[in-house]
Amino acid sequence: MSTAFMRSWDEVAAALRATVSPESAVRREEILATRTTLRVGGAARILAEPAGEADLATILQRTAAAGVPVIMLGRGSNLLVPDAGVDAVVISLGHPAWQRFAPEADGRVRVGAGLRLKNLCGLATKAGLVGFEFLEGIPGNVGGALRMNAGAMGGWMFDVVDEVRVMSREGIARTYAKAEMHVDYRHCAELETAIALEAVLRPARVAPGEDEAIRRQIDAYRDKRHHSQPREPSAGCIFKNPTGDSAGRLIDQAGLKGERIGGAEVSTVHANFIVNRGGATAADVIALVRRVRARVQEARGVTLEPEVLLYGGDWRKEL
Ligand code: EPU
Repeated sequence: MSTAFMRSWDEVAAALRATVSPESAVRREEILATRTTLRVGGAARILAEPAGEADLATILQRTAAAGVPVIMLGRGSNLLVPDAGVDAVVISLGHPAWQRFAPEADGRVRVGAGLRLKNLCGLATKAGLVGFEFLEGIPGNVGGALRMNAGAMGGWMFDVVDEVRVMSREGIARTYAKAEMHVDYRHCAELETAIALEAVLRPARVAPGEDEAIRRQIDAYRDKRHHSQPREPSAGCIFKNPTGDSAGRLIDQAGLKGERIGGAEVSTVHANFIVNRGGATAADVIALVRRVRARVQEARGVTLEPEVLLYGGDWRKEL
């Protein structure tokens, strides 16, 4: 850490605690495994849960000034946390202040970055907002889904986004219209550095009487997912689909279902999932990613790229 006035993580934590409101939490050595769906990995040197935008801005400004790295944590469903943890201030928008769901007069809805997609869908169903059903089974929150342009059942998060309010690494808030953002398959360039605060979403239509029909659509998606994806802890699909093909099919055809390293296993249900069969380490998962990638390259000549983020790290150094 290149800081003149904060020499240790304890000092960084103390300095942050002294500047944020008492409603915000700043904790040392917080285990991240339990905050991820794959359930592996070590601790955050510091975990900060700001209680609102002012405290988030303070944390960003203090850490930027001191050269302390910061990383966002969403619902932890698309992450692999290294066994050694992360040398950073991890920011989680878990405080209720970030869980806003506020329908607007024009039919759109303003949602906080910390709102879980599952809750968004439940609230939208009650409000008769059609078009968010595909988000229900994605185990993420709004901020993470924007960051990754999460998708399922043929839909993408940005299909329903109108605008996104963000905060820069320097703690300055601004709003982007969707057309100003650079969005792609499982990627949003602006959110690689800026942090999503909230989004305005546009439903396909507002139909207050249709909540039963919305529920039926959600159930149909849920059934499809239950039949095609594993139930064990995982980080969702581990590789991106190569253009025009399916990573799951390629891995399956390479005969890798059930391939295992330590507690990590290529799912026998869907080959693009690595599941934690109990006691998996990040090192097990990384070794299995490397093996699967090498075998698919050998068998099919296709280089698969990880979709799951190596938290605080860089896959290129591991593969
Ligand atoms: N397939 C196999 N063997 C397998 C898995 C799949 O042959 O082990 C075949 C299927 O039979 C199907 C094709 O591959 O013909 C595609 O499979 P699937 O319909 O399951 O879709 P996918 O492309 O593997 C994508 C997303 C999922 C999303 C599903 C459902 C990616 C990498 N994956 O999976 O997203 O839930 O569609 O909409 O884009 C995620 O991103 O983490 C994720 C789970």
